[in-house]
Amino acid sequence: MWKINTRQFEKLSKLVYHECGINLHDGKRELLQARLAKRLRNTGINSIDKYIKIIEKDSDELINFLDAISTNHTFFFREKQHFEVLQKGQGKIWCAASSSGEEPYSIAIDCLEKGFSPDILATDISTHVLRIGTRGVYSFDRVKQTPPYILKKYFQKGHKKWDGYLRVKDNIRRMVLLQRFNLLTDPLPTGIFDVIFCRNVLIYFDGITKTKVVNRLCQVLKPNGYFVIGGAESLNNINHKLQYVKPSIYVRNF
Ligand SMILES: C[S@@+](CC[C@H](N)C(=O)[O-])C[C@H]1O[C@@H](n2cnc3c(N)ncnc32)[C@H](O)[C@@H]1O
Repeated sequence: MWKINTRQFEKLSKLVYHECGINLHDGKRELLQARLAKRLRNTGINSIDKYIKIIEKDSDELINFLDAISTNHTFFFREKQHFEVLQKGQGKIWCAASSSGEEPYSIAIDCLEKGFSPDILATDISTHVLRIGTRGVYSFDRVKQTPPYILKKYFQKGHKKWDGYLRVKDNIRRMVLLQRFNLLTDPLPTGIFDVIFCRNVLIYFDGITKTKVVNRLCQVLKPNGYFVIGGAESLNNINHKLQYVKPSIYVRNF
């Protein structure tokens, strides 16, 4: 088992903060240690110092490292009360930090149930979760909060080796475009969005990074468009121009 020392932890947490804004404070040391150990095993690299040197100059392995350390927990219809912002007439929705696709596919289903079919851009920094989202195949535990009639209407049941899995139907998959996007650094997508979901990712950022991300995303939010954050998150104590509507929901009125 590789043990990470303080110098290595500081170097890696600085790199992670710089690359994707995630704040790995000392309490996250064990998590970093465990995920790094797994990555070293998978790559066959036998020293942490060697690994640090590699990710400092190899952007492909840096992406794998960020994949390994990001927390991608999500499920279908998570915090579905937020979907009240989805309303007929909306044409473009951005699900930033979409993880493995459960969130944008839930949004697509909610919109279809309400009788409209917007284009949904789903982005995440992790290429690993984006691959899962593109495949659109999920185990039953991801859909625990999904009503049975929705499962029947929008999912296909797997058979034989796919027993226990469900696949999102093609009409839903076609509504969602999955792409890699770093909230901090990548050029903003073209176009302007009626709603931006940025849920359960701000929680990993400090105030400076949160401010930067929220203000960046607002540049592509339509006037009167909604900005939605996670239930455990808040925009208090950061500088932004959005107006509070109700918990987790803000509107751009500037
Ligand atoms: C906990 S998941 C949230 C998923 C989904 N939004 C939800 O609420 O269920 C957080 C996601 O944020 C992504 N993430 C972390 N830092 C990011 C960054 N700088 N840019 C884009 N995505 C990032 C992670 O890869 C992860 O998939």
